[in-house]
Amino acid sequence: MKTETTPKMTVLHAPVGVRSIVSSLVAFFIVASSVTFLLDRGQEAQVQMAVEHGRQEMQVKLEAGLQEPAMRGTTDAGDAGEECNWSRGRWVYDNMSRPLYSGLKMRIFNGSLISFKALEYNATIDFYWSPLLVESNSDNPIIHRVEYRIIRADRIERHASVWRDADIIVFNSYLWWRKQKDDMRMKVMYGSFEDGDARLDEMEMIDGFEIALKKLTEWLGENIDKNKTRIFFAGSSPTHSWASNWGGEDSNKCLNETEPIYKIGYKAATTDYSLMAKAKSYFKTLEPKGMHVQILNITELSDYRKDGHPTVFRRQFVPLTKEQIANPASYADCTHWCLPGVPDVWNEFLYGYLMYK
Ligand SMILES: *[C@@H]1O[C@H](CO)[C@@H](O)[C@H](O)[C@H]1NC(C)=O
Ligand SMILES: *[C@@H]1O[C@H](CO)[C@@H](O)[C@H](O)[C@H]1NC(C)=O
Ligand SMILES: *[C@@H]1O[C@H](CO)[C@@H](O)[C@H](O)[C@H]1NC(C)=O
Ligand SMILES: *[C@@H]1O[C@H](CO)[C@@H](O)[C@H](O)[C@H]1NC(C)=O
Ligand SMILES: *[C@@H]1O[C@H](CO)[C@@H](O)[C@H](O)[C@H]1NC(C)=O
Ligand SMILES: *[C@@H]1O[C@H](CO)[C@@H](O)[C@H](O)[C@H]1NC(C)=O
Ligand SMILES: *[C@@H]1O[C@H](CO)[C@@H](O)[C@H](O)[C@H]1NC(C)=O
Repeated sequence: MKTETTPKMTVLHAPVGVRSIVSSLVAFFIVASSVTFLLDRGQEAQVQMAVEHGRQEMQVKLEAGLQEPAMRGTTDAGDAGEECNWSRGRWVYDNMSRPLYSGLKMRIFNGSLISFKALEYNATIDFYWSPLLVESNSDNPIIHRVEYRIIRADRIERHASVWRDADIIVFNSYLWWRKQKDDMRMKVMYGSFEDGDARLDEMEMIDGFEIALKKLTEWLGENIDKNKTRIFFAGSSPTHSWASNWGGEDSNKCLNETEPIYKIGYKAATTDYSLMAKAKSYFKTLEPKGMHVQILNITELSDYRKDGHPTVFRRQFVPLTKEQIANPASYADCTHWCLPGVPDVWNEFLYGYLMYK
């Protein structure tokens, strides 16, 4: 257990599902480098959605205005041995569930760590910012490079020492490796300035990802107690920046979208599937050691939710001007998700893994 109680600690409002998991596990639960935040969507029409998912039924109610959702998960008994296929399901309206949490009450950072302490359950849920997994020039959670990224090929310990004792670790890094432009490349640093042997290489994003995965899997293999810690890795979170993908106007991006895509099997053109395929191949190398990294394949179910992004209502360090708000092509955020919203359903699936598998 971590025992940090300082005036600067953050208390994240934990999704109910996760809370009740930790109550039974008395766990130290860490989410590394996740990318889910935001709210503030203004007073739009109420959107109430749920996922119907084969034998599992996950329900979430989203209110785009003040956004007080409710979640309810039900699972039929008798399918314990069967892997739930997250791609087989559809979003349905749910006007029954009542809100189970109200979003972002207190938020205090300690460097890269945001902690939520559930005292009544003796549990800690931490969010730890290390977006490129290994050490990088993007490690500052507030001021980080977005375009010019440099990773350190063989340095992970500063981050990993924070994860080491966790009972459950959930990694989430995909978006940071996706090419946002065709010519986007990753810089990789070997050696160090301190030792005078620093060397910088430049390579394709996926090759940089491979270097980070190699270091991560080596570290996990050597440091994680497989009898104690469960490891998850979030899959590709899709973006909705090209409205022509679903028959809209590209200049609007996902602004004013109020319904999911209903076309079964819809796939966002911007998702890079090669990254998670690479991740899977590295996680396989841990299997002979008896370690399993469970991928949370949220891609397809999130692909449908073009209406789930904060667009121009995203909270900004400097609020957008009227002119910027009127220019969704440049200023609508169709990458991050509103909370409460789609990521709550990712948590429901995580809950399913923790409770039933
Ligand atoms: C809380 O958890 C820690 C670590 O597992 C344990 O040492 C401690 O006894 C627990 N405290 C209570 C009140 O259960
Ligand atoms: C996730 O599921 C989709 C099908 O919806 C599949 O195409 C993709 O390869 C899966 N990704 C991983 C990492 O398993
Ligand atoms: C899950 O369902 C999708 C869509 O029906 C299918 O393409 C995929 O192969 C399935 N995955 C598994 C592991 O069964
Ligand atoms: C929920 O929606 C269904 C279908 O639209 C409707 O029949 C029902 O009356 C609604 N229930 C409530 C409580 O609004
Ligand atoms: C912040 O976390 C570090 C460990 O990463 C700890 O040493 C330090 O005491 C914490 N600071 C505060 C103000 O809690
Ligand atoms: C993990 O559990 C297995 C089976 O119970 C046991 O043989 C092994 O010694 C345990 N390993 C550790 C590091 O505790
Ligand atoms: C989006 O909706 C707002 C409010 O209804 C409207 O004023 C605006 O013109 C719409 N923008 C686009 C690009 O459709």
